[in-house]
Amino acid sequence: MAKTYGVGIMGAGNISAAYLRLAPLFKGLEVRAVADILPAAAQKRAEEFGVAAQTPDELLKNSELDVIVNLTIPATHYSVSKDIVSAGKHAYSEKPFVLSLEEGKALKKAADERNLKVGSAPDTFLGGAHQQARDIIDSGQLGKIMSGTTHVMGPGMEHWHPNPDFFFKPGGGPILDMGPYYVTNLVHLLGPVKRLSAFTNMARTERVVTAEGPMKGKAVPVETPTTIHGILEFHNGAVITIGASWDVASHGHHNIELYGTGGSIFVPDPNFFGGDLVTTNWAGEKSTVTPWDHPFGRANQDLDKPVHRANYRTAGLADMIASIDGGYNARCGLDVALHVVDVLTSLLQAGETGQVITLSTTCERPLALTPADAQALLKA
Ligand SMILES: NC(=O)c1ccc[n+]([C@@H]2O[C@H](COP(=O)([O-])OP(=O)(O)OC[C@H]3O[C@@H](n4cnc5c(N)ncnc54)[C@H](O)[C@@H]3O)[C@@H](O)[C@H]2O)c1
Repeated sequence: MAKTYGVGIMGAGNISAAYLRLAPLFKGLEVRAVADILPAAAQKRAEEFGVAAQTPDELLKNSELDVIVNLTIPATHYSVSKDIVSAGKHAYSEKPFVLSLEEGKALKKAADERNLKVGSAPDTFLGGAHQQARDIIDSGQLGKIMSGTTHVMGPGMEHWHPNPDFFFKPGGGPILDMGPYYVTNLVHLLGPVKRLSAFTNMARTERVVTAEGPMKGKAVPVETPTTIHGILEFHNGAVITIGASWDVASHGHHNIELYGTGGSIFVPDPNFFGGDLVTTNWAGEKSTVTPWDHPFGRANQDLDKPVHRANYRTAGLADMIASIDGGYNARCGLDVALHVVDVLTSLLQAGETGQVITLSTTCERPLALTPADAQALLKA
């Protein structure tokens, strides 16, 4: 019988609830303990989900754990993942998994030396809608994708997140916080990026927290650009405009539009697993694509609300674990995550310097995840 990997969670904040709730859907893994620098936070999640509460040090030393999921804040992702790997365990991190190429390369070296895996969110591109978009693009139905746009823009984070200060520090901002979903999806659809340029600015130097919680009413300093407009040239020749901002009340762009020599495709929000796919032919006639029956496209959340969601966060972790014995490259593996961090940090650097930057990293497109591949990750 295949081994069940013991999983620990480091960081018992907002997103940990989603991992703890969804992990039981997946084969081959079991969440056994949760830790946080705030013992009360770990205790709360442990009680909610019936796992052990530990200190960070106890979690690293826990012999029942093979993998630790790093759900701490971006500023500590690198140091915590390094500690996880040094403790002899596989690491899977929330995004962005590091804040610089140097950190990513050091983590890769440390993991390779110990024959350990490092993986990273986002895993939403494994969702049914995004895998179907890839299938349509790879079928050649739209001809060759030559250009497109991607936009992630809104009014910010301080109105919903109770502790939003990290979003406005270096390592946060819309490009490092939300950009991973968009750029990872584009790399999945089109392959790696060759070079890029960007311009950036910030509309405000401080933001006032309006979300309920202890920080409500407090001002948070803005230490990173909150508006980034860039152009990405992919190795396959496609040129994509990217707009990321937390200074925008509303806008009318699709999340991702890709234009091929035979037609266009509108891809739904890469922050979610599902959504509607629309294609047009060369005559511009639109058709809503009939969704295929992909396990990671089936709605399982907000079933009582007007918009039903498919949420399979943890799929990337389950795939990384399956790849250990399966002998394939994890779809949410380190090389893709490192290339995405290279793209995101280079966009910020291009904004600062005005240069066109040729990327020093590349990666293979993550493997497609067919409906059968997805089903194989789930418990029966
Ligand atoms: N909140 C979301 O909806 C969401 C969605 C997707 C991804 N993410 C990502 O998940 C990560 C965490 O986000 P969050 O919203 O849960 O943040 P959060 O601030 O709610 O939680 C982070 C937790 O990590 C703990 N922590 C910080 N440093 C630590 C350390 N060195 N060791 C152990 N624990 C430590 C904090 O005490 C806190 O409880 C971020 O990278 C974020 O981008 C969040």
